[in-house]
Amino acid sequence: MHVSREGKEILKGVNLKTGPGEVHAIMGPNGSGKSTLAYTLLGHPKYQVTKGDILLDGESILKLKPDQRAKKGLFLGFQYPTEVSGVGYSHFLRTSYNALSKALQGDDREVFITVREFQKYLKGNLKRVGLPDEFLSRYLNEGFSGGEKKRSEVLQMAVLKPKISILDEPDSGLDIDAVQSVAKAISEVSTRDSAVFVITHYARILKYLNKLDFVHVFAKGRVVKTGDASLADELEKKGYDWITKELS
Ligand SMILES: Nc1ncnc2c1ncn2[C@@H]1O[C@H](COP(=O)(O)OP(=O)(O)OP(=O)(O)O)[C@@H](O)[C@H]1O
Ligand SMILES: [Mg+2]
Repeated sequence: MHVSREGKEILKGVNLKTGPGEVHAIMGPNGSGKSTLAYTLLGHPKYQVTKGDILLDGESILKLKPDQRAKKGLFLGFQYPTEVSGVGYSHFLRTSYNALSKALQGDDREVFITVREFQKYLKGNLKRVGLPDEFLSRYLNEGFSGGEKKRSEVLQMAVLKPKISILDEPDSGLDIDAVQSVAKAISEVSTRDSAVFVITHYARILKYLNKLDFVHVFAKGRVVKTGDASLADELEKKGYDWITKELS
């Protein structure tokens, strides 16, 4: 797919595919187009697909709005989550969960009749990502620290149970313990037949994942190399220069 923003071409022919339970890492230098890919997959209105398509189970989702894509099972954990004052955190999660449950079917989607039941489910998930229960009475992302915002994005993924998750730098700004619990939460999601894309600059979070099927390297709006988990270690040792040299 080719993608432009405000008339400037940013993605220049990216081709990726995934299947149930697959875990992919996307690495690459600043400005190489990783977040652009994430936004485009979820339908950010400023990104135009000028060539190519996005197929989910063989059907194009290009014409669908972000909420419709979410109802097809797509999820994005933002690199820079937005603070939404006035929107209660637990209300947001419950409303989202119910909206998705109407659209998505699956054995793992419990029906929570009461608010209390849902709160219990949320508390279990807060624990997994190391956030205190009092977050439930806060506004979405408002005043969350950098690391808390990241934990919260991963919590949303764990709670909402999407089919395909794209996590844009879930490990940036996290303390050492949090990297491990976030990786554990990601691994649990991928054992449910869901696919996960982890955009990251560091091999560390990837080491904590139970499995990692592919590592893709982005440069200048393209996937320039795909390998297995060992590619992440190689990148950490050698940087990106050798890949761009290999290509030129
Ligand atoms: N409106 C715009 N006009 C021109 N260039 C833009 C515009 N929006 C984004 N870009 C450029 O698109 C490129 C890709 O940005 P993107 O955020 O996808 O990179 P990234 O790989 O996620 O980087 P990082 O690792 O720093 O998060 C950058 O060079 C950015 O400056
Ligand atoms: Mg980015």
